[in-house]
Amino acid sequence: MIIPSSSPFHMLSCLVMLLLLPFPSFSADPDALQDFCIANLNASISVNGFPCKPASEVTSDNFFFDGFTKEGNTSSIFGSHITSGNVFSFPGLNTLGISMNRVDFAPGGMNPPHSHPRASETGVVIKGKLLVGFVTTGNVYHSKVLSAGEMFVIPRGLVHFQKNVGKKKALAFTAFNSHWAGSVVLPLNIFASKPSIPDHVLTKAFQVEEDIIHTIKSKFSS
Ligand code: GLV
Ligand code: MN
Repeated sequence: MIIPSSSPFHMLSCLVMLLLLPFPSFSADPDALQDFCIANLNASISVNGFPCKPASEVTSDNFFFDGFTKEGNTSSIFGSHITSGNVFSFPGLNTLGISMNRVDFAPGGMNPPHSHPRASETGVVIKGKLLVGFVTTGNVYHSKVLSAGEMFVIPRGLVHFQKNVGKKKALAFTAFNSHWAGSVVLPLNIFASKPSIPDHVLTKAFQVEEDIIHTIKSKFSS
């Protein structure tokens, strides 16, 4: 059916479209209602974030964070280390809708496939050569090898990874539009949850025999 552009239905559809357009551009976390709200991480209640420390107890130190000054220890199974600058390590970020990570990579190390349910991610390579990739919900894989000074973006919720494809150590800083983006690390979520996902679910999902599932689970059991 062709709807004439002068019809009331057509005009109403255009109006609805115009009203809906701004929604995807809203930031991931809701806007703050005050200048700052230094998180009281010990509070017994939390309502979609942390309550604020009383203003009388706030000091300049609450707005600075030196957690990124040291290289992370990359001797993990993945050969990478994430130092988080989120609301837990840096309570001054509470309610501001932003956070960062320092990501160190040994040669050949990787930040395994994962996603952030509450934020888009952007990042910049400081040192080394990183293969950065992500997969869309339509199953399209996008990737590029980046060097120092080059930047990337991962749309919210999409599965992504970085791998050091250079011969030396690599370093990147990432940033999120959430004070706590959350991380779903696929190998750990699927094969190392507690309690574990039953083997019969995983054998069917991955179309392999049980011994393969046991082998993979054993790699992540500590
Ligand atoms: C990188 O993907 C990160 O989450 O810091
Ligand atoms: Mn990430």
